[in-house]
Amino acid sequence: MENVKWITVTSPEEGAKEVYKVIEEELQNNRLHVLGLATGSTMIPVYQEWIHSNLDFSEVTAFNLDEYVGIGADNPNSYAYFMKQHLFSKKPFKETHIPNGMAEDLDKECEEYEQQLNAHPLDIQLLGVGENGHIAFNEPGTSFDSVTHVATLTDSTLDVNSQYFENDEKIPNIALTMGISSINKAGKLIMVAFGEKKRAAMEKLKAGEVTAEWPITKLLLHNDVLVITDLQID
Ligand code: GLP
Repeated sequence: MENVKWITVTSPEEGAKEVYKVIEEELQNNRLHVLGLATGSTMIPVYQEWIHSNLDFSEVTAFNLDEYVGIGADNPNSYAYFMKQHLFSKKPFKETHIPNGMAEDLDKECEEYEQQLNAHPLDIQLLGVGENGHIAFNEPGTSFDSVTHVATLTDSTLDVNSQYFENDEKIPNIALTMGISSINKAGKLIMVAFGEKKRAAMEKLKAGEVTAEWPITKLLLHNDVLVITDLQID
């Protein structure tokens, strides 16, 4: 699989340095104007590396993958809050976009988000993966043709992600998410996965068979994927 390059590292910090190298090179070569960003614990060391560097994102437009429905940007459980806390308050971007989970008309919000994406094609999309193989909030079974849409989260995702919910707030079971096709339109994909909990998903990716039951495997159809993981997968 020449389209998928694997880098195996020994720690999340080392993985974050590998992501940094790519971002730095693309910025230097003037090839990074629109960057797709992700949330989750995996991205914390990645963003730490960026905020303690000289990387300059002031000419870069950012798009985030997803957001919960019904919680606003000032709620610590929202992805908008996560991004502000871990990156945007420390590194200025030209523009930042995150789907608005408080929008009155969610379908319209998704349509407009997809239009924005089409107007600003992603040069790079950074991705994590859920334990069940979801990318963004594209759960198992999601159509590969999907664009930005309203997604219902699976019990497995609700279980895993509710651990991060603060203030006893109930996790919403609905989210807005870029679709699998929106993601795969990016020029380059960087998939980052750390820890044993991601082994099943990463084994599916390595196995090389594309199946809707494991949304991560759709990456195999992209022509430029970089995988950075601390898992040794044979
Ligand atoms: C959420 C996000 C995904 C992310 C996943 C992994 O479900 N919607 O985009 O990849 O969490 O999170 P973590 O990095 O905390 O394992």
